[in-house]
Amino acid sequence: MKTFNVGIIGATGMVGQRFAILLENHPWFRVKLLAASSRSAGKTYEEAVGNRWAMTAPMPEALKNMVVYDAVADVEKIASQVDFVFCAVDMKKDEIRELEERYARAECPVVSNNSAHRGTKDVPMIVPEINPEHAQIIHAQRKRLGTKRGFIAVKSNCSLQSYVPALHPLMEYGVKNVLACTYQAISGAGKTFERWPEMVDNVIPYIGGEEEKSELEPLKIWGKIEGDEIVNAQKPCITTQCLRVACSDGHMAAVFVSFDKKPSMDEIKEKWASFKGEPQDLNLPSAPKHFLNYFEENDRPQTRLDRNLEGGMAVSIGRLRPDSQYDYKFVCLSHNTVRGAAGGAVLMAELLAAKGYFD
Ligand SMILES: NC(=O)c1ccc[n+]([C@@H]2O[C@H](COP(=O)([O-])OP(=O)(O)OC[C@H]3O[C@@H](n4cnc5c(N)ncnc54)[C@H](OP(=O)(O)O)[C@@H]3O)[C@@H](O)[C@H]2O)c1
Repeated sequence: MKTFNVGIIGATGMVGQRFAILLENHPWFRVKLLAASSRSAGKTYEEAVGNRWAMTAPMPEALKNMVVYDAVADVEKIASQVDFVFCAVDMKKDEIRELEERYARAECPVVSNNSAHRGTKDVPMIVPEINPEHAQIIHAQRKRLGTKRGFIAVKSNCSLQSYVPALHPLMEYGVKNVLACTYQAISGAGKTFERWPEMVDNVIPYIGGEEEKSELEPLKIWGKIEGDEIVNAQKPCITTQCLRVACSDGHMAAVFVSFDKKPSMDEIKEKWASFKGEPQDLNLPSAPKHFLNYFEENDRPQTRLDRNLEGGMAVSIGRLRPDSQYDYKFVCLSHNTVRGAAGGAVLMAELLAAKGYFD
């Protein structure tokens, strides 16, 4: 595989920092430039981040002295120097929508962690093990944008990154009704305990917009390309409650599920154990060897013990058992800023690179 030059837009933020770590020594992607708001532009990366560095690993040496670009004012300059950008910015939705389209129209593909374009019908929202074929809609999107190379591809919300993969191998049994309660880490809000002391010893029963995303986005992921758009799946019927809990990283979900054709517990465990997708077949650099991992122990998965499984790219599942109102219930866990954000985006970019979308 050739080496691609990439930019990180929103490099100073929580997800941007995670990109910086994941891309250090990446075999295909080389960080060529960093961009953030006008507040950071013109400073070195180290100065711009200041005391906001939130990763346990140190800031990559090669990035410390890079001068940060202005993500909004320098679109053309940035687009002309890189093969594509990763984007994770905290701006208003309509501003993000416009900014990402400006990069795409400047012939710079955008792999985005933002939610702004998740509802756009010709923008693929890819979980590489589940719906890699949705990348084909990029041809239609390029037609609409009038571009040859430029396009936008997005990652789904971090909340669903554990239960949608766990349910996916079971779709052949007709997954009918799903109830998922999520217990989400504070890094999902771009925060640490130092910056959010009110979260110590606390649970907050509201995360703005999260339940809508958790219920709707799976239907796009399970949707089908029809003509120039992705048409959402009609089933399953999903209801969620999303809570913020006092964990640094790792989103847990308690899931209840009913089927049209109820499988046995052994069949479910077998489907999880044997599941693999294109990232595993293509041996992509960030692909976990085993995406779905079932624990027989009653007290697993645990956030602290299991969120870093396979570098934070795998999903952990446990406590599968019958339920009195649904067919079954279980719990599952994924790392929200790795698989749920930057790591998931890097894997998506690897898939797109392997399929020639950045050529
Ligand atoms: N945290 C997660 O687990 C997670 C998961 C999935 C998706 N996301 C999404 O990823 C995005 C970033 O989240 P985050 O947690 O990394 O946020 P964050 O820590 O607040 O970082 C925000 C980034 O956006 C930049 N920014 C803010 N205003 C800007 C402007 N007007 N123009 C250009 N850049 C601007 C900031 O630059 P300055 O430092 O210069 O202000 C910073 O680099 C959000 O859309 C979020 O919904 C986050």
